[in-house]
Amino acid sequence: MPSVLVVHGPNLDQLGRREPDVYGRTTLADIDARLVAIGRELGAGVSCLQSNWEGALVDRLHAGGFDGVVINPAGLTHTSVVLRDALLATGRPFVEIHLTNVHAREPFRHRSLLADVAVGVLGGFGPMGYELALRGLVAHLRREEER
Ligand code: DQA
Repeated sequence: MPSVLVVHGPNLDQLGRREPDVYGRTTLADIDARLVAIGRELGAGVSCLQSNWEGALVDRLHAGGFDGVVINPAGLTHTSVVLRDALLATGRPFVEIHLTNVHAREPFRHRSLLADVAVGVLGGFGPMGYELALRGLVAHLRREEER
């Protein structure tokens, strides 16, 4: 059974309250519950982590115990060589997901330091993007298993 770690970066604990016009009213707890349920449907284990601390995200990635990662790196997307290096160090595939279409927003959000080493990148579909990311990653892991 593939095991997926879902990682939410800084400020995503505020979903539901944070700029609802931009990010909507769905909370992170709602998103995580939905991902665990979809994981069950797909026959994949799903565990979720949010932190506002870059180092806590890095430590969790180093700890391992997963086959792949779904990550919304939030603001770290645009700035963090550290997070990129930590994801590469896992040696495992990851999918980058954003609630919003970052390319339709401020220019500083157009650059991702992770996208070129991700299996796939999703954005603009709100919370549904996490579901698509999880389905895509599990399909990728199954193809990897078959090889
Ligand atoms: C985000 C987009 C980022 O630019 C922003 O810093 C976030 C959320 C998104 O999900 O749309 O915190 O990753």
